[in-house]
Amino acid sequence: MFSPNCFFAGQKEPYMESLHVTADAETLINRAAHFISLGRPGVARPLVAAARALAPPSPELCLIGARLAAASGASDRGLVELDQGIAAAPDHAGLRKCRANMRQRTGDLDGAARDAAEAMMLDPADPEAKAILGAVMLDLRRPAEAAACLAEALTSAPSNLDYRHALATAMEKGGDVDGALAILIDGIAISPTSVTMRNAAILLCIRRRDFNQAIRLGEEARSLGIVDASTFGMQGHALSSLGQHSQAASAYQEARKLGPEDEHVRHLVMSSGLMTNSVRAPEGYIRTVFDDYADRFEAHLIQLGYRIPGAIRTILQGHPKIAAGQSIGPVLDLGCGTGLVALVIGDLPLGPFTGVDLSPRMLAHARAKCLYGTLRESDIVSDLMHYEQRWPLIVAADVLCYFGALEDLLARVHQRLEPGGWFVFSVESIEPDHDGVVPGNGDWALQRQGRYVHAEHYVYEAVCNAGFRIVHMERPVIRQEADAGVPGLLLAIETVRRDS
Ligand SMILES: C[S@@+](CC[C@H](N)C(=O)[O-])C[C@H]1O[C@@H](n2cnc3c(N)ncnc32)[C@H](O)[C@@H]1O
Repeated sequence: MFSPNCFFAGQKEPYMESLHVTADAETLINRAAHFISLGRPGVARPLVAAARALAPPSPELCLIGARLAAASGASDRGLVELDQGIAAAPDHAGLRKCRANMRQRTGDLDGAARDAAEAMMLDPADPEAKAILGAVMLDLRRPAEAAACLAEALTSAPSNLDYRHALATAMEKGGDVDGALAILIDGIAISPTSVTMRNAAILLCIRRRDFNQAIRLGEEARSLGIVDASTFGMQGHALSSLGQHSQAASAYQEARKLGPEDEHVRHLVMSSGLMTNSVRAPEGYIRTVFDDYADRFEAHLIQLGYRIPGAIRTILQGHPKIAAGQSIGPVLDLGCGTGLVALVIGDLPLGPFTGVDLSPRMLAHARAKCLYGTLRESDIVSDLMHYEQRWPLIVAADVLCYFGALEDLLARVHQRLEPGGWFVFSVESIEPDHDGVVPGNGDWALQRQGRYVHAEHYVYEAVCNAGFRIVHMERPVIRQEADAGVPGLLLAIETVRRDS
């Protein structure tokens, strides 16, 4: 027997009185599903309550109740409802699929995989169960198994764009980038009006640094009018990566027209030189870029010869306490990313480490290293304002390139350092262009790739004005880009003691 669910029982909704009493439960459930899919759980709630009042408990009522709970931000209650539903109807594939989805979202990946596999056995012809299992396998970092499940799902439903997209992702993660692109190109042939499919193919070309193919696909989409702000944003990125900056600027301008509220596009437009007044990269932009980059970040930076964590280690070996074999104490790692800094300096006498970063996916990689006592998902300026702890050492490796003006950040760091505490950070150096013109306002400039570069005189002045003295400064090559070294500055600065 289906146990009565009382999740919403007893809740008198204002809409209830006005509901059409002649509606049957199925109609109410369908209407509720519609409002949930529109992101309006408040409207769906009285409909679900009315359906419960009209019909005895059933898997359909359980499903809509669970979906409503999840849409209202109460996944735990939705899971309880599904547990009860599955206990009453263990052979219902729909309940298993719903719980698999919900378990996946709440991070119970093993449970999600069990449910999806169970649903597949209950209904072997159902592609959805295979697709869910594929998505869970992807989260479990088992791309080969994910691709196998998703390929089966796509064979049964070749026009399903979500399955196709997920299969391409699994193949790319498994290293078959050509195969992934072929799947997306087939998708464009099958669903030529899908902007999503076209954008996915362009993004993949950009990720494999095939900018010419990305531009070709973007041009084709544009000639057919199947474009959105992202298409133009990516077109701009591909063009600027090939040094075609004026064409990139026009593409960004188009992107801005189509997506005026889109932070990512806005920042790209700013970096193309069309708008120059942005003093820092927006949080949403950073999150999107680094969440997307997180899985490839370390391999890519190693390939680019990223040197900063190693150079910071050398500087810290000259810190008077470390040189004397004493511990410095706790370290705040601003923009910690995947945790490379802690990895490289973690054996020195310092710590524990606290890491702060805006990107949840970068933080997930840092967490997996188990080197940080605390990791906080936050903007570094907000974090410095919010937490009053004082630190003997703060580091920011390759992070200040997302800030133009440095005054505010340096003032906050100064407030959070102990007297005599060190701040070790890198910036990218401003370089004149091929005509000898220094870009930006002379102090700093936002470059076309979305990062800021800084003039040495500006960094020096900003540091001194903020109450620091320079302990160490060097001019390293930060990494390679387009076969050339990216020049930078690496500084260790010390708070000037107020009593000195
Ligand atoms: C190039 S990565 C460097 C990561 C790490 N420090 C390293 O050296 O490997 C830049 C990191 O800074 C983070 N980031 C950039 N601006 C930020 C901000 N305003 N607040 C917090 N994190 C930020 C990004 O999310 C990214 O993880």
